[in-house]
Amino acid sequence: MNKLHIGHLEDIDEKGSRTFKVQDTEIAVFKLSDGSLHAVENRCPHKGGKLSEGMVCGTAVHCPLHDWKIDLRSGKVHEPDDGCLNTYPTEVDGNSGEIYITIAG
Ligand code: FES
Repeated sequence: MNKLHIGHLEDIDEKGSRTFKVQDTEIAVFKLSDGSLHAVENRCPHKGGKLSEGMVCGTAVHCPLHDWKIDLRSGKVHEPDDGCLNTYPTEVDGNSGEIYITIAG
């Protein structure tokens, strides 16, 4: 397990995201309107759309290419479509506001 520092809470706008690369994987960290953070692979399971460019609505992001809706908490694609994204645990330091994610490996 690797715990990586990826920025500060204030670096991400509400309903926005920030992306970064770990080895060959691009990860997007989204901030929902309730302030919670969710890190997912930045690659739609349909045809690879960049989810960081999609619109966040509630707890889901709409893929910018063909509008699949993906729950950012579970990584699951909403029906009638089907698929799943890799998700990564996020942690915020309550004092400093620094954000960390945990990557397996
Ligand atoms: S690539 Fe995301 S819906 Fe098609």
